[in-house]
Amino acid sequence: MRVLMMPRDTNHLGTIFGGVILSYIDQAGFVEARRHGLHRWVTIAMDDVIFKEPVYVGDIVAFRTRTIETGTTSVKVEVVVEAERFESGKTVQVTTAGVKMVAVDKNGKSIDFRKEPTLDRRYPHGAFV
Ligand SMILES: CC(C)(COP(=O)(O)OP(=O)(O)OC[C@H]1O[C@@H](n2cnc3c(N)ncnc32)[C@H](O)[C@@H]1OP(=O)(O)O)[C@@H](O)C(=O)NCCC(=O)NCCS
Repeated sequence: MRVLMMPRDTNHLGTIFGGVILSYIDQAGFVEARRHGLHRWVTIAMDDVIFKEPVYVGDIVAFRTRTIETGTTSVKVEVVVEAERFESGKTVQVTTAGVKMVAVDKNGKSIDFRKEPTLDRRYPHGAFV
């Protein structure tokens, strides 16, 4: 995923909130997990996240994912976060995170993600039931 950082994402110091980046890490984890099966995926755990560099408005932030572990109901995704600076075009590594995602059924119970897709019906507003 690539995202352009906007003024709405900043804290009072003018840099990007860590929580905004965490939220995108979570989304990136889902996007990667979904490749393993069309299910409801939820986040069960996230490893320590150390922010090594700040992120600024105008940076284009890339969230690169790869699956590093698979279990029965879960996959663990590594998310590498890099910021391409608006002015210089230089890329810096911001952080790396491990996100564990679990496939669940419509009752929220963990399921084997290798089984057939469990998303079957879509409401007009877009939510799956
Ligand atoms: C995800 C959830 C359904 C798992 O329920 P559970 O009864 O603990 O499920 P299980 O014991 O079957 O474990 C499911 C998987 O998570 C793994 N897991 C369990 N506890 C874990 C932990 N503390 N850390 C990492 N992985 C864990 C298990 O190893 C298992 O993976 P595997 O089947 O690939 O081996 C439940 O904890 C939940 O609903 N959590 C909330 C999820 C959520 O809403 N996230 C967003 C928060 S805002």
